[in-house]
Amino acid sequence: MDKFIIEGDRRLHGRVRVNGSKNDALPLLAAALLVEGKTRLHGVPHLSDIAMMVKILRELGAHVEHRPDGEVTVKVTDASRVEASYENVSTMRASVCVLGPLLARRGKAKVSLPGGCVIGVRPIDLHLKGFAALGAEIRTEHGYVIAEAKKGLRGGEIYLGGPFGSTVTGTANVLMAATLAKGTTVIENAACEPEVEDLARFLVACGAKIEGAGTHRLVVTGVESLQGAEHTVIPDRIEAGTFMCAAAMTRGDLVVENVRLDHLGALVDRLRATGVPVERAEGGVRVTGPERFHPVDVTTLPYPGFPTDLQAQFMALLARADGLSVINEKIYPDRFMHVAELNRLGAQVRKEGAAAIIHGVKELHGAPVMASDLRASAALVLAGLAAKGTTEVRRVYHIDRGYERIEERLNRCGASIKRAVDKVLLVKSPAEA
Ligand code: EPZ
Repeated sequence: MDKFIIEGDRRLHGRVRVNGSKNDALPLLAAALLVEGKTRLHGVPHLSDIAMMVKILRELGAHVEHRPDGEVTVKVTDASRVEASYENVSTMRASVCVLGPLLARRGKAKVSLPGGCVIGVRPIDLHLKGFAALGAEIRTEHGYVIAEAKKGLRGGEIYLGGPFGSTVTGTANVLMAATLAKGTTVIENAACEPEVEDLARFLVACGAKIEGAGTHRLVVTGVESLQGAEHTVIPDRIEAGTFMCAAAMTRGDLVVENVRLDHLGALVDRLRATGVPVERAEGGVRVTGPERFHPVDVTTLPYPGFPTDLQAQFMALLARADGLSVINEKIYPDRFMHVAELNRLGAQVRKEGAAAIIHGVKELHGAPVMASDLRASAALVLAGLAAKGTTEVRRVYHIDRGYERIEERLNRCGASIKRAVDKVLLVKSPAEA
């Protein structure tokens, strides 16, 4: 198991390029199970979560190639397999995205229930409610969801909202299933995250009929079949936001390239409110870090609200604000595993129910810390970059799930991060993507 050794208090400068989005690529790969012929995706990052999805597609009878330049080709050669095992789903929750395509194209799916997750309770009841509304019979047996549509799926009207708002992968799953259902499907309270919109764009390129992509109401008219298409994955807005916070926190001057600023409105608003200049620059966005930050309040919400996937990183930034900030977590009320570790670096953060109260401190100081999940580990790396002295971040396999060789890319901008083997043996925690 690897760890990062970070020598902090260095300004980031220069340019860093954002990769294709993990959370876009994962459902796009699952969607390849729906189509006839070859799917070709560009800009698919090399991440352990992507490698897991590739493994699952292969188990489900697809021939998949992931080239070093990020191009992925998928072609189904054996459509008889319908099972995604516990072994795979328990290490990556996004594997449940194969449920919709399998059900729609193969009439049956047997997919393990994902189980526990470090960032909170994450049921898939809304996914299943959506499939049931499309006429699927659903039962759970021995920890598996078995969904069947012996006579094929038929269109239906579905409300996909839950206690925490819309569901991103739930919308993706039901949308994929609806593309091949007989008749018209209406999905109300659909997630309108850019990744869901992009999935719809890909499905339309394959021949699907979808109206309302990027809104809370999707209308899908089922078609007989879909044909493989070529598509480019959108830039990863969470990776972009992480680099922007890194620049701000290190008093840096960084141009972050391959950014869709229209996908990052809430982050830009909060960064500017803390006193961080964010400007468009040639080929990207330029972020310069001030000496101190104004305290601000942040509430995570479904898109276009502030993303929960940037909550931990923004908390690391607010740890050095001049005063008191409050973060309200409205998507995952328990997603605060990073609080105790940030406090080990000198932050003063207190969790209060689904909120965190952050008393800004003058400086952070290096210490050994433990990553608990993907975004928490990103926050610890950012805090380590800003801290005085040496920070060791353990369990960095979490960060490798969502950021491709992050240490090399940050080192090219002036950071000092060394990857080393951690001799302390640790049991892996369940997966959060
Ligand atoms: C996606 O997870 C992302 N994963 C997560 O990113 C992200 O944190 C999350 O959306 C919210 O933006 C991928 O895209 C692969 P949800 P997803 O269904 O789709 C509740 C990362 O760090 N809910 O939108 O699983 C749920 O518990 C990862 O890259 C139900 O109640 O999230 C949560 O409170 C972590 N029933 C809320 O809805 C359901 O059936 C939103 O979850 C489904 C969800």
